[in-house]
Amino acid sequence: MKTILDFYQMKQNREKAVMITAYDYPSAKMVEQSGADLILVGDSLGMVMLGYDSTTDVTLSDMVHHAKAVRRGAKETFIVVDMPFMSYHISVEDGLMNAKKLFQASQAQALKLEGASEMVLTLTKRLTEAGIPVVSHLGLTPQSVHVMGGFKVQGKDKQSAEKLIEDAKKVEQHGAVMCVLEGIPAPLADKITSALTIPTIGIGASLSCDGQVLVYHDLLQYGTSRLARFVKPYADLNLTINQALSTFVREVKQTQFPEEKHTYQLNEGVSLEEE
Ligand code: KIV
Ligand code: NA
Repeated sequence: MKTILDFYQMKQNREKAVMITAYDYPSAKMVEQSGADLILVGDSLGMVMLGYDSTTDVTLSDMVHHAKAVRRGAKETFIVVDMPFMSYHISVEDGLMNAKKLFQASQAQALKLEGASEMVLTLTKRLTEAGIPVVSHLGLTPQSVHVMGGFKVQGKDKQSAEKLIEDAKKVEQHGAVMCVLEGIPAPLADKITSALTIPTIGIGASLSCDGQVLVYHDLLQYGTSRLARFVKPYADLNLTINQALSTFVREVKQTQFPEEKHTYQLNEGVSLEEE
């Protein structure tokens, strides 16, 4: 399994890190087999797997449940797990307790926290001191969707761009080992990536980020309806699954399935006919 030191080295060597989300046992197995460097058990599982409207409905037990399944499917991969909405905002003590639960239950390598508020910075430092590596998530932070007034690109004007650069430096200073940059202008992502020693992982950010992350279901078009601009679909599982399921339905209705090769026979010489 790669360690955080490998990711620092990769940044220095300009070798890209690949992160893909996984939410359950089969997706974790597939991602591990793909050669991706990291798995993210994102709180996007709320929308993708559970049909919630936003990540603000995701609970700590949702995260534990899914992260444990992912660990079982990917024993050799560096796993980052999202701290869900409001599990690290009530107090530093509450955040530490929740982080302990999630980190231990999931056997993850790091936890991810959105934003750079005073509380998050303090928690980043305290968790790092306690031995829990923190991945930061800046820019478009979905847990703050209601404060941002929608899923909007962040840091487009000079003032908010400069604030994001400061935030990125702060999370690094407080011990973050990596920083996800979501939904920010490419030149800003370039600037942050060169300003930081820790690797940046982009999503809707830029090519110069030290790595890229996409949501499993987005890149496979699996259960998704509309894709954001920053997603490139690499397959169309919706189509594949639709075709397979409707063919199965039709074949059963038309008594074309099961065929003889899908059925079992009695032992040699046994007959169920009345004598
Ligand atoms: O929850 C998630 O999938 C994420 C990524 C989009 C970075 O946080
Ligand atoms: Na997330």
